[in-house]
Amino acid sequence: MTTHEVTFVFEDGRIVKFDASEDDNLYFAALKNKVRILTDCLEGACATCKGVCTSGSYELAEYTEEALTQDEIDRREVLTCQMHVKSDCVIEFPYESRVALKSKPDSRVARVSELEMISSTVAKLVVEPDAGASPISFIPGQYVHLSVPGTSEHRSYSFANAAFESGRYTFYIKVLEQGAMSDYLSQRAQPGDEMTVTGPFGHFYLRPVERPIVMVAGGTGLAPMLSILDTLAANGETDRPIRLLYGANAADELFAFDQLAKYAADGLDLVTEFCVVEPADGWNAATGHVTGLLREEILNAGDCEIYLCGPPPMIDAAEAWLSEQGHDSSLVHAEKFVPS
Ligand SMILES: Cc1cc2nc3c(=O)[nH]c(=O)nc-3n(C[C@H](O)[C@H](O)[C@H](O)COP(=O)(O)OP(=O)(O)OC[C@H]3O[C@@H](n4cnc5c(N)ncnc54)[C@H](O)[C@@H]3O)c2cc1C
Ligand code: FES
Repeated sequence: MTTHEVTFVFEDGRIVKFDASEDDNLYFAALKNKVRILTDCLEGACATCKGVCTSGSYELAEYTEEALTQDEIDRREVLTCQMHVKSDCVIEFPYESRVALKSKPDSRVARVSELEMISSTVAKLVVEPDAGASPISFIPGQYVHLSVPGTSEHRSYSFANAAFESGRYTFYIKVLEQGAMSDYLSQRAQPGDEMTVTGPFGHFYLRPVERPIVMVAGGTGLAPMLSILDTLAANGETDRPIRLLYGANAADELFAFDQLAKYAADGLDLVTEFCVVEPADGWNAATGHVTGLLREEILNAGDCEIYLCGPPPMIDAAEAWLSEQGHDSSLVHAEKFVPS
């Protein structure tokens, strides 16, 4: 019996992972793992069990053309009651996790093990779950909720470490003049402080590397890109060019220069372009908003996967420009750092 790891991603960003046998249809494999996706006919005729397979290979058994058209097949839509996985797969469903899952999202108690300001506004926070806690199984690009010690609040933060690393999780957090997490980090945080880590969540995650990659990161929007780049380097996925456009308000807010430089030594074909809105004397790279670095020639005639992460106006500007260029929106993945 050959099994593969299957990840379901629901509309609210919550994910669930389980092993599925090639012999079972995916609906049944999920049910064996206490995940009950929406179904009706179980015969490939009603389309109730439809999802989109964003990663991995599979076969579909019997289905009608009314339930799954050729266009839908081309978009990798799948009828999970007829689907048999042939590799690890990620499948997205257009409804919230509470429909399919009875349990609450995973929560772990963790402790602050490292805290350091690594640029004028960015804190590096490393947390370690208590010994014995199960590793957080996420896809690079995703995020968790971190509780703010001393309050009843929590905030969302993207993993900045590779997905296969476990036991130690790194986050890059912009410290604002005022804010629940910002006040905690700048005024009270101490190694050993307890935090609750809940998740993972998110639709912003690394897709199969089948074409060149363009990343646009604003400020701490670099965090999930580092998780993705670390994962690509560790997996030896080095044969596609990657262009990272990375901007901040001022040069002293930029961070992770050494890490970015090291990716070349790791074999990644990465070109990074920097950009700041307010250049100080001596700044010799681009100025303005990072989206100003987007230009037609880097889109590889439409054949590139695009990852956008940062403040909402940055994402809106990038998406508007990509739409003007007619870039296929299924190749554009975005995470807006809205106040959480
Ligand atoms: C999916 C996702 C992933 C994210 N990942 C990251 C990440 O990796 N790194 C990162 O830096 N951020 C990330 N964010 C943003 C992050 O979740 C927080 O929104 C951010 O860190 C601010 O949190 P805070 O508690 O410091 O500020 P908040 O308390 O949320 O305050 C937000 C804003 O409100 C203002 N404000 C607060 N209190 C008051 C008040 N009493 N009166 C008026 N104004 C007030 C603050 O000045 C601030 O501008 C992410 C967001 C999302 C949705
Ligand atoms: S449940 Fe009807 S097509 Fe799958």
